[in-house]
Amino acid sequence: MRILVAGGAGFIGSAYLRRRLAAHPGDSVRVLDKLTYAGRRENLDGLDPDRVELVEGDIADRDAVGTAIEGCDAIVNFAAESHVDRSIQSPGEFIQTDVFGAFVMLEAARQAGIRYLQVSTDEVYGSIESGSFSEDSPLRPSSPYSASKAGGDLIVGAYRHTYDADALIVRGSNNYGPRQHPEKLIPLCILNALAGDPLPVYGDGMQVRNWIFVEDFCAAIDLVLQGGEAGEAYNVGGPDELPNIDAVKLILELTGRDGSLIEHVTDRPGHDRRYSLSSDKIRALGWEPGARFADGLRRTVEWYRDNEWWWAPIRSGEYRSYYQRHYGRALS
Ligand code: NAD
Ligand code: DAU
Repeated sequence: MRILVAGGAGFIGSAYLRRRLAAHPGDSVRVLDKLTYAGRRENLDGLDPDRVELVEGDIADRDAVGTAIEGCDAIVNFAAESHVDRSIQSPGEFIQTDVFGAFVMLEAARQAGIRYLQVSTDEVYGSIESGSFSEDSPLRPSSPYSASKAGGDLIVGAYRHTYDADALIVRGSNNYGPRQHPEKLIPLCILNALAGDPLPVYGDGMQVRNWIFVEDFCAAIDLVLQGGEAGEAYNVGGPDELPNIDAVKLILELTGRDGSLIEHVTDRPGHDRRYSLSSDKIRALGWEPGARFADGLRRTVEWYRDNEWWWAPIRSGEYRSYYQRHYGRALS
């Protein structure tokens, strides 16, 4: 197969390329990526150039998508604005890419008669105090990010219902692992701990997240691409859920730092308290949750320790001014 992977230069998209190419030696991929602040050519380093083609372009641009889709057998769409805090500061790009861009990709897939897989998130269901959401739970997104992702998901459902399009959705919980942008909690805290900078914890830190190692999420995506039923959504949650403050303490332990680096800061507006997914449906396809958080986190800390070349340019670039603006203090 040749797969069009939109957003393949980002965190999860690039992990997916690695997995797909290793598991399917006859396959090749075309990456369509706008290379925003979150997308990086470096994320494709080490991949066979004969099997990976990178096309710089916007998923909301019909012409770019029309050209990129030529000769492809399926689309996996990772491309999105992905950070909740940035969606609170500037929602417009989220609607443009995560709603309109998803529509453009889906329409192109429908016209080409190929499968379209939408990579989505547990955040579309909103917060849940106890228990877990199933795929039939109502969508109640609370941030501009999650509302825009829910918009993309609803268009997928409508395309299946109206046009019988071969489209389906995978909704993942919080991913972590190598090559995640340091704006996100886990790499932010790892890099701040390594540098001796404070670790900013929103509010009381008792918000609960369910963590999945990125390679395990990518395995689920591949399984659904191959064997998922058109029109269906599949939830994919990791093996462990824990309050943010516990995740942060584990990072301090793994980096040899103590609790004095923890700094409770102003909470995120509208912050969802807890996410939780039932993964029974994807387990029935043969998927298992994989790495426990403590183990995956240790591997992730090691990766960041060993790959300063990857993160140093980020910590010295646009991210520095974003950090100053958002947290009201400078990185060291
Ligand atoms: P990321 O921000 O690391 O990567 C996003 C990629 O999309 C980047 O390469 C960026 O350049 C590209 N992109 C952005 N706008 C684009 C546009 N208009 N056209 C083309 N490319 C564009 O994000 P991620 O964490 O890898 O997330 C990937 C997908 O998985 C997203 O759809 C996200 O909603 C979903 N998701 C993420 C998580 C998580 O924990 N990170 C969990 C569940 C689902
Ligand atoms: O749940 C899946 C989602 O996980 C994905 O759809 C999103 O793309 C991805 O960004 C992630 O969203 P979160 O908002 O959960 O991730 P983030 O890493 O930003 O925050 C994780 C938790 O940590 C959340 O409760 C907010 C908190 N947090 C985050 C930051 C950046 C802090 O306490 N301090 C921080 O500085």
